[in-house]
Amino acid sequence: MPSSEALVFDVYGTLVDPIGVARELEEWMPPADAAEVARIWRQKQLDISFRLTAMGRYEDFGWCTRKALDHALAVLDKKVENSDKESLIARYDNLEPFPDAAPALQALLDRGRVLAILSNGAPAMLDAILDATGLRRYFAEVISVDEVRAFKPCPRPYHHAAIRLNRTTSRVRLVSCNSFDIIGAESAGLRAAWIDRSGGAFEPDGSPPDIVIRSLTDLLTALTPETGHED
Ligand code: LAC
Repeated sequence: MPSSEALVFDVYGTLVDPIGVARELEEWMPPADAAEVARIWRQKQLDISFRLTAMGRYEDFGWCTRKALDHALAVLDKKVENSDKESLIARYDNLEPFPDAAPALQALLDRGRVLAILSNGAPAMLDAILDATGLRRYFAEVISVDEVRAFKPCPRPYHHAAIRLNRTTSRVRLVSCNSFDIIGAESAGLRAAWIDRSGGAFEPDGSPPDIVIRSLTDLLTALTPETGHED
């Protein structure tokens, strides 16, 4: 079992920007409403996934994404044709990568780091987004919670990631912008790095991890050099 620390990356909010769909929504509504729909859409998508796992049920993240969009449009009383809804959903497979993602991942790879994805996204969603953004080539493994049919922050996906990467949980570090994800990872025995892109508040039911940075660009220097080398 390698003793080097593997890095597992969250996708939505960390590598790609789910709130960027607001621009697409502006075709159907004023910018302020579009921003609000995008915000509610994302929040409800997470809420639904959390609730499914709390109930011991599973539907994939694509299902959660569709239900959440219907909800967000209903809250703001927006009527969007079904075919237009499909193009909004399709946009989710083609979200913009954050500009710091590719250069930071390349720098980590150049230093011999083992990189993987651990996402709530369904396999088809992850395939699509990693191909569309060109980010796939940085990752040794793409791990979807679909493999254990439970969403983060349930411990099962994090433990599963450690098994897939052939490491103990303490030799896996989750990199995420989502503080609920950081709390879940640490609670499951992983380490974590919080990318605090917006300078926002950490979720109140946990504490920030040992690495808190504003951008993926700072990740390489924030990591202790000796933890990353392969045996
Ligand atoms: C993910 C969501 C939680 O990519 O952002 O797993």
